[in-house]
Amino acid sequence: MKRLRNRLYRFFIQDATSHCYDNCLRYFPPQSTILDVGIGNGTMIPDFHPVIRDKMLTIDGIDINRHYLSQCSELIRHYHMENHIHIYHEAVEQFRPCTPCRYDYILFSMSFMLFQDQQAVLDRVREWVKPGGHLVFFQTIFRDHSTFLDFIKPKLVYLTTVDFGTVVYEGQFQDFLRKNRLRVVEDIMIKKAWHRGEYRMIAASPSA
Ligand SMILES: C[S@@+](CC[C@H](N)C(=O)[O-])C[C@H]1O[C@@H](n2cnc3c(N)ncnc32)[C@H](O)[C@@H]1O
Repeated sequence: MKRLRNRLYRFFIQDATSHCYDNCLRYFPPQSTILDVGIGNGTMIPDFHPVIRDKMLTIDGIDINRHYLSQCSELIRHYHMENHIHIYHEAVEQFRPCTPCRYDYILFSMSFMLFQDQQAVLDRVREWVKPGGHLVFFQTIFRDHSTFLDFIKPKLVYLTTVDFGTVVYEGQFQDFLRKNRLRVVEDIMIKKAWHRGEYRMIAASPSA
């Protein structure tokens, strides 16, 4: 069952995962400290462990799914990444970084649309970003409102076992950033996705 769950997960989100970490890991300067919110089963590790090691990145990954984390832990061991990737079985809503440990980047790697109270999550995590650091959102963004998408996307979990969360719309997301005084410093369209969606990496600064 655990194996099947991991296979399904890889099948449905491998492409997005690959684009996400390829672009985000390139964006982070050497020696950055990163909190990966929703690190999942670590399927990025086989492809990206050399860049994480070469850039001397430190990644704390948190996730609520213990099956995904157990596979992630196996991959960390297999690729000898113990000095670079640390994982915690915690929800972002409860996680507390060890003070005074703060992050250069907080990465939402296809996870932000999964939170019930995005505002509460943002209010928590913005306190953990070092001065000059950024929040980085990788997600599929849709420009045009679609009743079909609103209906189908939250239900895909029953079909695929992977929770894709709610639909992220361009206008709403930009309003959310503006309302929270998050200044967009990078907005990269990475790839066209299904139903006129786009994989996007958006980095925003929480400093005024
Ligand atoms: C779509 S997956 C992406 C996983 C990984 N970042 C990747 O790109 O392969 C989203 C992940 O967020 C995790 N997640 C969902 N809600 C969470 C929460 N409240 N706190 C931490 N992780 C959460 C899920 O368990 C899942 O592993």
